Amino acid sequence: MFFVKNCKYLIARPLKNLLKIKRWNSQLRVTITKEKIKQGPGLKEFLYDTTDVSIERPYIPYLPENVQWKHKRKIYFDVYGCQMNINDTDIVWSILKNEGFERTENEDEADIFLVMTCAIREGAENKIWHRLDHLRGFKRRRAISKDKNIPVKIGILGCMAERLKEKLIEKEKAVDVVAGPDSYRDLPRLLALTDNGQTAVNVLLSLDETYADVVPVRLNQDSISAFISIMRGCDNMCTYCIVPFTRGRERSRPAASIVDEVKQLRDQGVKELTLLGQNVNSYRDLSQPDARNDTRLAEGFKTVYKAKKGGLRFADLLDQVSAVDPEMRIRFTAAHPKDFPDEVLQVISERANICKLVHLPAQSGSSAVLQRMRRGYSREAYLTLARHIRRTLPGVGLSTDMICGFCGETEEEFQETLTLMDLVGYNVAFLFPYSMREKTTAYRRYKDDVPEEVKKNRHNRMLELYRTRCQLLNKEEIGCVHLVLVEGTNKKTGQIVGRNELYIKVVFNQEDILAEDGGRRQVKPGDYVAVKILAAKSSVLSGQLLYHTSLSEFYREFSWGDRKIARVNC
Ligand code: SAH
Ligand code: SF4
Ligand code: F3S
Repeated sequence: MFFVKNCKYLIARPLKNLLKIKRWNSQLRVTITKEKIKQGPGLKEFLYDTTDVSIERPYIPYLPENVQWKHKRKIYFDVYGCQMNINDTDIVWSILKNEGFERTENEDEADIFLVMTCAIREGAENKIWHRLDHLRGFKRRRAISKDKNIPVKIGILGCMAERLKEKLIEKEKAVDVVAGPDSYRDLPRLLALTDNGQTAVNVLLSLDETYADVVPVRLNQDSISAFISIMRGCDNMCTYCIVPFTRGRERSRPAASIVDEVKQLRDQGVKELTLLGQNVNSYRDLSQPDARNDTRLAEGFKTVYKAKKGGLRFADLLDQVSAVDPEMRIRFTAAHPKDFPDEVLQVISERANICKLVHLPAQSGSSAVLQRMRRGYSREAYLTLARHIRRTLPGVGLSTDMICGFCGETEEEFQETLTLMDLVGYNVAFLFPYSMREKTTAYRRYKDDVPEEVKKNRHNRMLELYRTRCQLLNKEEIGCVHLVLVEGTNKKTGQIVGRNELYIKVVFNQEDILAEDGGRRQVKPGDYVAVKILAAKSSVLSGQLLYHTSLSEFYREFSWGDRKIARVNC
């Protein structure tokens, strides 16, 4: 077997304009778009004989020996997309910080722009193309400015990078690096390659990368909230969704490394933690013994892929994570309805610090559409589950994601989405018009036949119903006392902003209020306070600050299900 060596010359040889090389150790695909050196040695020069035991580690001359930059290079991060991208950016920053890179929040100081991207809908990608227009101009201006001789580099990371691969560089010439969600460890090297004017692409997906040993460094160190990805990828293959193609196969991060990170975050003062996975219900730490029997899917639910067996489940992880600090609020998302176990509901009911808000994405209210979407449940099965959750966790809030205008959706089918939304009464909902994505089953099998204006109209109707319904739900809270975790101050109004258990924004005026030690003090980010709700809009509640408290103290007084008792007490 032979390995490729001396790639510097191989890369630079005039093999058309585009040359791809598979690297021996990481199967890195390096795409070189510039023809720099006209002549080079023959193929023999690039091969190592692995049977030669005298070679300890092949010398790879195409990589700069010293990837430590001569000058400190400052990175500017742009983050688009879901919460997972926030956590991924923290992972990237941790990797690059370790390599001596610096960070800036000022564009003018930046040497490298790293854009963490999303590919979920066309609109999400359009935002990134606009940003790239701006960065291209910035790069050009910097190239002709006298005071800066370090060329600006642009790296595209994340799901759009994975979806478009080298096409991204072909379409947007200003881009230097393209790195998919599983290749962030490679970033220092990919960036080093660009020092010679090359472009570098690594979009290989992995079966086991979870970055378990990388301690993310949060971009926003002052935030009292943090995200932890407990798993990566998705095997569900909903027919509309690009995620399985951009994030690869589902894999879970070992529970021990998650719990360690939770402890570190607690030590940094984090008060609210969201556990992230495309479907947390299929979390399995296979390095742990099987503590539970494998439960079958409930009646009315099915799955397209073979569920993994054994290992530690999400309910056990939730139990361990919530036990780290009873004062730390724990949230999680997303929980696919098809395999929602009772054990998870049990842990939620036992732990005051696990927020009683379940994100149960329905996607549609029509069984026929759900079948075309390959969601694995019918409208009836979803409603039965929603009722079961409400019965098990009195006072629980439900949130959802919904898509309108999916392939073949009729007006009647859309009406079923509206009636489902009305029946369930979601506290929080994320509503989207369908956007056809290449590669998905829907792209191959169905027609994107709902006209844009119909999608827009349905989207508006969904939004209107949601707002009206939310306003009514929120109005019911007037007079109740909510436990609010303070996040900060609204710069415009000067009011304090926090979130209640259901993740609804609560605003109130700053005041000196009674503290736990009997004294009085103002509120600051990270404080738990009791707030009496006085007014409600569809997405924000406003109230009167009452007193400082703690999570355990508050729920000793008012159990979550009975929290309306607080209305009487105050
Ligand atoms: N794993 C999560 C979803 C992640 S993507 C889950 O199953 O809930 C977030 C949301 O984007 C999805 O829930 C879906 O509502 C929406 N979405 C995904 N693909 C879409 C598409 N092609 N068009 C419109 N919305 C889409
Ligand atoms: Fe996409 Fe479905 Fe996976 Fe969610 S569960 S990421 S919607 S394929
Ligand atoms: Fe977007 Fe990728 Fe998240 S497509 S929604 S950034 S998983």
